[in-house]
Amino acid sequence: MTGDMSSELVFYVNGIKVVEENAEPETTLLQFLRQKLGLTGTKLGCGEGGCGACTVMVSRFDHYSKKICHFSVNACLAPLCSMHGMAVTTVEGIGSVKNGLHPVQERLAKSHGSQCGFCTPGIIMSMYTLLRNDPQPTIEHMEKAFEGNLCRCTGYRPILDGFRTFTKEYCAMGENCCKNKNGNNNLQLEDGVGTDLVKTKAFLPLDATQDPIFPPELQNSAKFDTDYLIYRGERVVWHRPTKLDELLDLKSTYPDARLVVGNTEIGVEMKFKNMKYPVMIAPTHIPELVDITHTDLGIRFGASVTLSRIDQELKEAIAKYSEPKTRVFTAVIEMLRWFAGYQIRNVAAVAGNIITASPISDLNPLFLACGAVLEVQSKESGRRQITMDEKFFLGYRKTALTSTEVVINILLPFTSKNEYFGGYKQAYRREDDIATVNSGIYVVFEDNSNVIKKLSLAYGGMAITTIMPTRTMAAVVGRKWDDSLVMDICHLLADDLPLQPGSPGGMVEYRRTLTISFFFKFYLSVQMQLQSMHLSKTKVPSYLHSATAPFHRDPSKSTQIYQEVASGQLEEDPVGRPINHLSAMKQATGEAVYIDDMPKFQNELYMGFVMSKKAYANIKSVDASEALSMPGVVDYISHVDVPGKNTWGAALPDDEEIFATTQVLCEGQIIGGIVAETQIQAQRAAKCVKVEYEELKPIITIKEAIEAGSFFGSPQKISCGDVEAALQQADHVIEGECHVGGQEHFYLETQAVIAIPKGEDGEMEMFISTQNPTESQHVTAEALNVPANRIVVRVKRIGGGFGGKETRSVKISTPVAIAANKLGRPVRVMLDRDEDMLMTGTRHPFYAKYKIGFMDGGKITALEINIYNNAGMSQDLSWAVMHRAMFHSDNAYKIPNLSTTGHVCRTNISSNTAFRGFGGPQGMMVVEQCITDVAYTLGVSPVKVRELNLYQEGDRTHYGQLLEHCTVQRCWDECLNQSDYFRRKKEVDIFNSENRWKKRGITIVPTKFGIAYTALFLNQAGALVHIYMDGSVLLTHAGVEMGQGLHTKMIQVASRALRIPASKIHTSEVGTNTVPNTSATAASCGSDLNGMAVINACKTLLERLEPIMLENPKGTWEDWIKSAYINRISLSATGFYKTPGIGYDFNTGKGRPFNYFTSGVACSEVEIDCLTGDHQVLRTDIVMDVGVSLNPAIDIGQIEGGFTQGYGLMMMEQQKISPKGILYTRGPGNYKIPGFGDIPVQFNVTLLKGSVNEKAVYSSKAIGEPPLFLSSSVFFAAKDAIASARADAGHHGNFILPSPATPERVRMACEDQFTDLFPKAKEGTFTPWFVEL
Ligand SMILES: Cc1cc2nc3c(=O)[nH]c(=O)nc-3n(C[C@H](O)[C@H](O)[C@H](O)COP(=O)(O)OP(=O)(O)OC[C@H]3O[C@@H](n4cnc5c(N)ncnc54)[C@H](O)[C@@H]3O)c2cc1C
Ligand code: FES
Ligand code: FES
Repeated sequence: MTGDMSSELVFYVNGIKVVEENAEPETTLLQFLRQKLGLTGTKLGCGEGGCGACTVMVSRFDHYSKKICHFSVNACLAPLCSMHGMAVTTVEGIGSVKNGLHPVQERLAKSHGSQCGFCTPGIIMSMYTLLRNDPQPTIEHMEKAFEGNLCRCTGYRPILDGFRTFTKEYCAMGENCCKNKNGNNNLQLEDGVGTDLVKTKAFLPLDATQDPIFPPELQNSAKFDTDYLIYRGERVVWHRPTKLDELLDLKSTYPDARLVVGNTEIGVEMKFKNMKYPVMIAPTHIPELVDITHTDLGIRFGASVTLSRIDQELKEAIAKYSEPKTRVFTAVIEMLRWFAGYQIRNVAAVAGNIITASPISDLNPLFLACGAVLEVQSKESGRRQITMDEKFFLGYRKTALTSTEVVINILLPFTSKNEYFGGYKQAYRREDDIATVNSGIYVVFEDNSNVIKKLSLAYGGMAITTIMPTRTMAAVVGRKWDDSLVMDICHLLADDLPLQPGSPGGMVEYRRTLTISFFFKFYLSVQMQLQSMHLSKTKVPSYLHSATAPFHRDPSKSTQIYQEVASGQLEEDPVGRPINHLSAMKQATGEAVYIDDMPKFQNELYMGFVMSKKAYANIKSVDASEALSMPGVVDYISHVDVPGKNTWGAALPDDEEIFATTQVLCEGQIIGGIVAETQIQAQRAAKCVKVEYEELKPIITIKEAIEAGSFFGSPQKISCGDVEAALQQADHVIEGECHVGGQEHFYLETQAVIAIPKGEDGEMEMFISTQNPTESQHVTAEALNVPANRIVVRVKRIGGGFGGKETRSVKISTPVAIAANKLGRPVRVMLDRDEDMLMTGTRHPFYAKYKIGFMDGGKITALEINIYNNAGMSQDLSWAVMHRAMFHSDNAYKIPNLSTTGHVCRTNISSNTAFRGFGGPQGMMVVEQCITDVAYTLGVSPVKVRELNLYQEGDRTHYGQLLEHCTVQRCWDECLNQSDYFRRKKEVDIFNSENRWKKRGITIVPTKFGIAYTALFLNQAGALVHIYMDGSVLLTHAGVEMGQGLHTKMIQVASRALRIPASKIHTSEVGTNTVPNTSATAASCGSDLNGMAVINACKTLLERLEPIMLENPKGTWEDWIKSAYINRISLSATGFYKTPGIGYDFNTGKGRPFNYFTSGVACSEVEIDCLTGDHQVLRTDIVMDVGVSLNPAIDIGQIEGGFTQGYGLMMMEQQKISPKGILYTRGPGNYKIPGFGDIPVQFNVTLLKGSVNEKAVYSSKAIGEPPLFLSSSVFFAAKDAIASARADAGHHGNFILPSPATPERVRMACEDQFTDLFPKAKEGTFTPWFVEL
């Protein structure tokens, strides 16, 4: 050891110096910020680098370049120990409501870019970091900055719009800039119509001089980079050597030690795979490992050089060197474009990717194909060179390096003019996703010819290592690069890259097809280049050219059109105005408080759950003895500790157990919990509780449930007309099946609860992230055997719910209350993302069988549906979800004879539950599939069939409800017009005739969504309004704020009702002690029910104040309130509301289930890549009837957010579960929700003008759920595009496309000569890796 040794960790956070004497190597920066420094603005969304909620900016002084570098980082993965000498900036460090917002915070908040706000700080920090590096980025650069950030609420559009104002392209015309107005070319605005939800002219200017300075101490002393650091933790020792010899010594002494650079692999392994690495070595400050040198052969990158740095260097090299030299570099840059997000690329190093040896590494296929050369070194054997080739990977996660060797550098070679190189990757989501299959392809030709001298192919995702099909490579040497080669190579590859059906990862036929699709793309692009150099006679026809083009996305564009308030409306009346979400500013500064942001209570404990590892089993024994002996552990809690009832049910009593007693019915079911002093202690100990099982045969899928007759209750039916007779009279009758997958809620804030026993009379206070405070209260009371009046549940805000916290939050909060009750101490839980995804259920998967009768002209006369949902292990809300699916089996169509029969399947998966749309979208999906079946059978456009069957005013639904003020047709006509459908359809047809491997589809889909809870008693709400002596108003109602802007809308309503400015009204929280017996905030009814209750309470107050106002008509509000107080008039009132005139009886088939309908129509255009299944939504236009909007900004936000969430359901989000019921998709790493780059390139939303609705608050309409189904327009546009590809391959007529239409399904539906090589293995002949639920 030659440098100074130090065990002191020194860094800065928001300009304040932090010195940590005993830094714990297993602590992440996020844990330190939140728990030690109390900086809770930075959020935990996943803990695995996949959501960006934890993004902070890290700055360091580079003593070589003498520059300060700023980079965005995932604090959840960044080891605290890696922060020595760094300056960390968190969201709190750049602005606050108290001291003034930073322009980034202000613009996001004012642009309506924050709904629940949980993702907001991370997005702010990504943008802030971008601006610190480039105060005026291009739009393209700006849009890319968010690859590593997810938002589940907004649909991203408002965030991009707000931040566009920082870009080079944004001009001084602000929102009137011509570039911003071209989202909708067909737009003719009438008077009274608004398009400016945001007043950008009022934005604070960006002033770089206001940014905090880099701490001079870190800049002035090189010591921070040269000291040898050693930190000794409880289980791990961290070394940071600064000399190569020191590193080699360490590796020689500790061959099993891990080298940590970005920690993006090791961090995930330690957290989620329980790996322990007692010695960790950070090779981040060793000059040889961070060096970049240009040689005659290529560029040599030190092993610890980050991926972002490589990207930058290669881009500079491409500008510097002539083209043929840089073909490998171009492919590496293209691959890095799709490699994780900025936060990961900024810290992850090249050697980490190589040595992890992941079979789906993105870089290894390129390195193998180009023959990159590694220099490796150990103390024992010195330095040697290894060429990366087919011998480099020895087995699963095993390389040719010895245990004491480290990678020093990697040489990426130059290419010459007869060498060509390509890189390919296909994933579920383009941005920030791991590959399904990827590939590097390299060909060398004999001089001045098209004769192959060498072909190198390397594939990821096809075996347990990156693999090279060597027989194929050898077989084609000497062959000419011509069309005859393609099919030969396809056959060779098919033999060389076998994959058994049921191989891990599944999608076997697709993965095999991708290997040849990639080659075919490469073949065409090389052929075109050879042709341009006159080295090949084969001419690539123009209709094949687009197959070779790399993915391109234009900058996003949008318009939002809404009706402005009437010109006579009072200034201070906020109803109908696009005012901001009232918490948006606090959410943008990180000051908004969520459950886990609350400071620790004295004596607080944490509960780690012990969960079933089996889908269905008898519990033979539970042994917590080892766990109980572990440090910090206080107790093991189980069913024996429940003083009251150990069962609960959302719709049925005793539907499920709180703690499993003798049997487990799904993986993830709670058996018990370890309560300990800290989260880490509790979670580690919980994993050591030993449970012995006697396994039973589980039922996992709907089809298995049907076979086994495993149902909850008996089938139920809704029908109208005489389906039998109508089927007989129809010109055509066809039968079909439809499957709609489940969907994980992926609210950004996972389920969280703190239970605080009060020590007297059985009282307990609970802070829960729930949509349903009352149910949480009641189940807790029953479990604790106390009356409900002893339990107070309080909810300030929740970081997204979407139905996932309507009942399933009870499953988490009740065990925590039981633990707190037993121990008499506060207990907290915030689920890790993987726990949440495992335990809390999802949207119900649905399966339907149908028979449809229709006439030659396309009129549908009869429809018979049997519809099944997968409820999981308990009934929960599954029947209510099924009812809504049945009620929506007509979508927006008049089908005179319709019968729909629902069946709820009991299976051994986690109980499925409410999710935005609540079965409606699945029901509508069935009828939309019927529409396409009819259209494809008749050979006419689905749009024509839809139009022909649309509901009209005065029609009755299949459950007999009269349609009044039916605006479906108006929305349809306006959407056709605004989207310019007919002109664009012709363009799409022309495009399709000119392109073989890229196809487009455009379609238009309506929706009609019934508003009301179908369970009548839930259609009630209460409000409590207090007026204080100073005139300020505290408004409380029954609805939970989960990002949907409910509190904002309610304050708008109260403001109008009380005739006072909104600024005088405040809502603090929802509590069971203020408004009792509330229904869950759900079913889109939040504003309707609570709004009326608020109006009623305000009316009571105004009636009481009236005499005083009349007495002093010129008085102010404050005068009247003072006077009322002096005159002993009560200034507090409750309000109550129940929806009148609704209720449906399933036994008689009579009644009116819905108060009214919210309708809308969407037109989407999609382009697919037929060779890979990739797609892009080119444009979506939505016209939605929201009545007279209470707040157009919030309503448009709900439409865009709902659409984007639905897009995930339709196109991307696929749950994967083994045939034995073990869930694979447990985090953002393997479950993809839409990201910034997935929204329609053009995204236009119009609120229908002149619609009225006397059935809800101030003529408004509910909006939370109705827009979600409009995303099916993307699905059906993709289906149209596929139909065109199929027609080119000679396949005409109907075909099945299950939802979600993942790249696999899109590709395999485009049947052609390549897919034909891989016929699907027969069901029953193998065990699939995952099953369709
Ligand atoms: C959210 C997320 C997204 C991701 N996306 C992608 C993706 O799109 N494509 C992809 O390919 N990967 C992806 N990854 C995986 C990962 O980011 C990469 O593999 C990354 O390059 C690892 O680098 P690191 O510095 O973080 O490695 P670390 O975690 O720090 O180390 C990884 C391993 O490399 C070894 N190692 C490091 N340096 C050396 C050396 N000099 N000599 C010998 N051994 C060494 C370590 O001992 C350790 O075993 C993703 C990861 C996350 C968390
Ligand atoms: S919490 Fe760090 S990326 Fe999700
Ligand atoms: S606002 Fe983005 S996740 Fe809720």
